[in-house]
Amino acid sequence: MSQNPIIIALDVETAAEARALVHQIGDSCRFYKVGLELFSASGPELVRELLEGGNRIFLDLKMYDIGETVKRAVRQVGKLGVDFLTVHAVPQVMRAAVEGASGTSLKILGVTVLTSFDQADLEAMGHHSTVAELVSLRVGQALACGVQGVVCSPQEVAEVRRATGPDFQLVTPGVRSAGAAAGDQKRVATPAAAMRDGASFLVIGRQVTRAHDPAGEVRRILSELSFDSVL
Ligand code: C5P
Repeated sequence: MSQNPIIIALDVETAAEARALVHQIGDSCRFYKVGLELFSASGPELVRELLEGGNRIFLDLKMYDIGETVKRAVRQVGKLGVDFLTVHAVPQVMRAAVEGASGTSLKILGVTVLTSFDQADLEAMGHHSTVAELVSLRVGQALACGVQGVVCSPQEVAEVRRATGPDFQLVTPGVRSAGAAAGDQKRVATPAAAMRDGASFLVIGRQVTRAHDPAGEVRRILSELSFDSVL
C-alpha cells in the first residue's frame, strides 16, 4: 500500500481539544476530518491553522441547498486548500458543487445515504426503494455529475467499487479493529476488510481519539493493514 489511508475524525467541541489531539497524533497521521460541530465552533480559522501545520483536511459539511448557494459556498471552501468536501449526492447539489470547485484542487464527495437512515426513514421521505437501491442510484448520479468520489459504508464499498472503477475516491466511515467498541456505529467492518473491498480512505474517530495513546493506536491500525511507513 503506498499511502496512509487513515483520516482521523476530529469530532470535538473546541479548537483547543482539536489541537491537542493533532499534537498527540503527530506524524502517525496527517489527514483529519473536520465536521459540522468543530467547524461551527472554530470555523475556517482552525482549518487554515491545521493546513499550515502540514495536515490535509476533509471538510465534512454535507451541503444541501439550492444550486446557486452550493456553488458559491463551495467556491469559498475551494480557497481554503482542503482536500475533500462532502455534499449530499443529489444531482442538482453535486453539479453545483463541481462548478464551485472548478479551477481548484478541491475534490467533491457525494454522501449517498446517511448511515443513520434505515428503510423506515426512506419511506418517510417518500422513497420507495431499499437503502442499497438508493445508494446504487446515487452512485450512478455521482459519476454522471463529475464528483470525484462518494462516502459509503463498509457494507456497500465492494459493490460501489465494482460500479465506479478504480479511480473514484471511496471514503469509508464505520471501521473498527476487531475488539474495539463500535459505539453508535451499526454497520462496522475492520479496516483491513474495508480496504480489501476497495476503500480509498478510512475515516476513524473514537477508536483513535479516545485511546490512551492515539498515535500508538494509529500505528496499530496501520500494522493491521500491513503498512510499514506512516506517511
Ligand atoms: O465512530 P467513529 O468515531 O469512528 O466515527 C467517525 C465518523 O463516522 C464520524 O465523524 C461520522 O462522520 C461517521 N459516523 C457515521 N455513522 C455513525 C457514527 C459516525 O457515519 N453512526
